[in-house]
Formats: sequence, structure tokens, C-alpha cells
Amino acid sequence: MYGRTRVDAALKASRPGEELLVKGWVRTVRVGKEVTFLSVNDGSCMAGLQVVVEPTLPNYQDVCRLGTGSAIAVRGTLRESPAAGQKYELAADELEIIGPADDSYPLQKKRHSFEYLRTITHLRPRTNTFGAVFRVRSSLAQAVHRFFAERGFLYVHTPIITANDCEGAGELFRVTTLDMAKPPLAAGEVDYSGDFFAQATGLTVSGQLEGELFAQAFSDIYTFGPTFRAENSNTARHAAEFWMIEPEMAFADLMADAALAEDFLRFLCRHVLDNCGEDMAFFNEQIDKGLLERVRAVADSSFAVMEYTEAITHLKKAKVPFAFPVEWGLDLQSEHERYITEKVVGGPVFLVNYPRDIKAFYMRQNDDGKTVAAMDLLVPKVGEIIGGSQREERLDLLLERMAETGINEEGLWWYLDSRRWGSCPHAGFGLGFERLLMYLTGMENIRDVIPFPRTPRHAEF
Ligand code: 4AD
Ligand code: MG
Repeated sequence: MYGRTRVDAALKASRPGEELLVKGWVRTVRVGKEVTFLSVNDGSCMAGLQVVVEPTLPNYQDVCRLGTGSAIAVRGTLRESPAAGQKYELAADELEIIGPADDSYPLQKKRHSFEYLRTITHLRPRTNTFGAVFRVRSSLAQAVHRFFAERGFLYVHTPIITANDCEGAGELFRVTTLDMAKPPLAAGEVDYSGDFFAQATGLTVSGQLEGELFAQAFSDIYTFGPTFRAENSNTARHAAEFWMIEPEMAFADLMADAALAEDFLRFLCRHVLDNCGEDMAFFNEQIDKGLLERVRAVADSSFAVMEYTEAITHLKKAKVPFAFPVEWGLDLQSEHERYITEKVVGGPVFLVNYPRDIKAFYMRQNDDGKTVAAMDLLVPKVGEIIGGSQREERLDLLLERMAETGINEEGLWWYLDSRRWGSCPHAGFGLGFERLLMYLTGMENIRDVIPFPRTPRHAEF
């Protein structure tokens, strides 16, 4: 491509005898008695291309001294390789050293811990594991768009700067141009009237509210964008900046919403099995031995549905000690979610109809007066991967709920308008893209599935 052949294409699509130009980074150098072998990787696939260099090359001595990490260009002839484990190798006719790397390069041969690699976030994409993670991430992002495009969903870009806290959890990062050293005050509080937007604004915690407006014009829509939460929980599954996919369907109830979520997750499972074989085999081998079996099972299964109330009954009967209390009306913690999906169900499960007091104001109230039409999809090893609901489309009930939860009507007048004219039952959900990646790769820390993680005290690179 653009004057060079990528390693994946060289290994798969080329024919022996073909003359190729390959560019990439040296992973290993083995100086033999007669020839020198280099393994070159360009990120297009996990495997490196073996390059065989004969001493007749004018810069042979420099090639023998090449360090791991050096950038090179090789022009040569592809031939069948006598070595085990690879079909082809490249016999070098010409080798240019583009950017050398000396032995201070941190990624020498030995295996590094993920903790250490997080301290060199800028270099870790050059390792096998992170190569695989980010190839799968890219492929899945494209699959997300394909899934919705095939079903006629409109792709809408919802704003990143917003004045509303959709989830009402007070986790908004502030966006301001006020002088932090001398903020204007009025009655002891910051006065935002002189700020850039003349009101308090922040980074979005969800595109849902704007998504709902578009669903009430285009029927079926989705957003897929960065999402920000200043939630100071330093866990392996929370990031301050993450990507969320949020579909919203008009004329849909909670069960239609769950059906979409199930189709979506199964589609994504099949996608990685069919399109990311080499990387998935690596994860299965190196990260999580049961991965492929689990992903295959999910691709073919139908998901269980359980009432929140029933989950509480199971948790109360559980013979394992939980760190957090279990009581009807309390939110479930990760340990509870994992117990339900791993021990009670043994696979993905939709928990539905949560107590209204632990859920956001926009969820539709059920007739029992106690619960709302919420659904969380729980999966083994990760816990909650999807959160969604049917929305409250009845203006009077929505206003009542906003008053109860202390949400200001004025700030959401535009949202309320959608309940004034042509209001209809509608539902949607949010899938955390990094949680999905953890689930499909077996990687256990959210910091290791996002290129440059933002977590409490970490935003350097
Ligand atoms: O359950 P949540 O908070 O739901 C919403 O934001 C709704 N507005 C979605 C909707 O109905 N349109 O978040 C949805 C998902 C979670 O299930 C989780 O996968 C992910 O977003 N998520 C996070 N991922 C990483 N880091 C965090 N701090 C996350 N918070 C939520
Ligand atoms: Mg949730």
C-alpha cells in the first residue's frame, strides 16, 4: 500500500518469487554463521515477517548490529521458508536503516508486566498484546457501524460539551474559560454568566437525551462517541474517559430493547471470531484460556432474563461472603453482578425492573409504583456491560420524577418538549466499548484496552 507491501498481505496474499518492499520495526535479530535473520513487524498482524540477509549486502555489518525497535525498509524476494511455523520469508536484496534504536529501547525481548507497560503507554502499542488489543478495537468499532447500518439506524453525533448531567450522578467534568485563580462569585457561588457559554457546562456523561430527540424524528438512531465521568473510583473497570455506543428506538418497549442488545452483542462476538482469528487465538492462549469457548457459546446462545427482585433472592441465599450489603432497594455491586451471571446463570443475563430510587430520572415507571423499566446486561468476568431502559414518555410522570430527584425543569425544557408533541414509547441502551473489549479479549483492566487511559491522577499520555 502506498509504495510498500504490508506484512499481513505479504504473508497471506503474495506469491513466492514476488519482489516486495516491506517497511516496519525490527522485533528480533539473530546473527547466524552464514546469514542473519530479522523479524519485522508493521502492526498489520501479529506475525512478523522473517527477513533473511546475506553477507553480500553492502551494509551487512550494520544490519548485524541492528537493535530491537529499529525502523527499516527491505526490498527483496518472497520465497517459501524452510523454517517451521512460517510459510514465507523475504530474501533481502537491499536493506535501508531508516531509524535506528539502541539498547536503551525499553521493549527488549523479555516479557513485561501490564503494570510496567502502563508506564510506557506511548510505546506499548509495539508489543504483541497491545498490537492485538488495538487491532481488535479498531475492527470492532467498524463492526459497530456495520451492525447499525445494516439495520437502517441513523448515526448521530451528539455534543461533547453539554449543560446537562444525563445520569444525574454529579460526575460532570467542568468546561470553563473563567479564570480559575479568580472566578467571579455571586452570593458565594461561581457566577457562570460571564463564562464562555454563559452557563455552567461540562463534558457529556451520555449522549442519550439528545439521542432520544433524534429517535423521535428518525425512529432508529445510535451514537458512538467519547464519554466522560469524574467518578473517583479507581477500579479495573472504570475510566474517566471511555467510549459508549447508545442506540435509541422509537415505538419500542423494554423487551424490544433487550432483543436489540442481544442481537448486537452476538453480532460482535461472531465478528471477532470470523475476522480477528489470529489475535483471538493469541488472547485465548496467553490471556484467558476459556475465551474462545465462551465467546463461541455467547455467539450462539439466547440470553437469560431475570427480575431484579429475583436476583436479590438469589443473593440473599448465596453461601459466599459479600463485601457490600444485599437488600431490596440497594444497587448491585460488581461482586453481586458477577455472582448472578457467573454462578446463578452461567452466561449473559438481563436484569430487569430495578427499584426506581436507584435509577436515573428518565426511566419509565412500572405500574407497581416501585420499579422502573430498566435493564442491565451482566456478563461473566466483567459484570455490567450494558445499561438501558424504556424511557418515561408520559409528561406528567416525568415531571413528577424530576421534581422528586431534584432535577431542574428549566435546564431540560427542550427534552420535555419531546413529551409535549408526538411523544411515543421509546427505549435504548448504552454499551461501554471498553467493557466490551475486556469481555471479548479477556484483558482484565480497562486501562489495557484503551489507547491512552484517563483514570484518577493519570492523564499524562
Ligand atoms: O449504565 P450507564 O450509566 O447508562 C447510561 O449512560 C445510559 N444513558 C445509557 C442509555 O440508556 N443510552 O452506562 C452505560 C454503560 C455501562 O453499562 C458500562 O458498560 C459503561 O457504559 N460505563 C463505563 N465504562 C467505563 N468506565 C466508566 N466509568 C463507565 N461508566 C459506564
Ligand atoms: Mg449502569
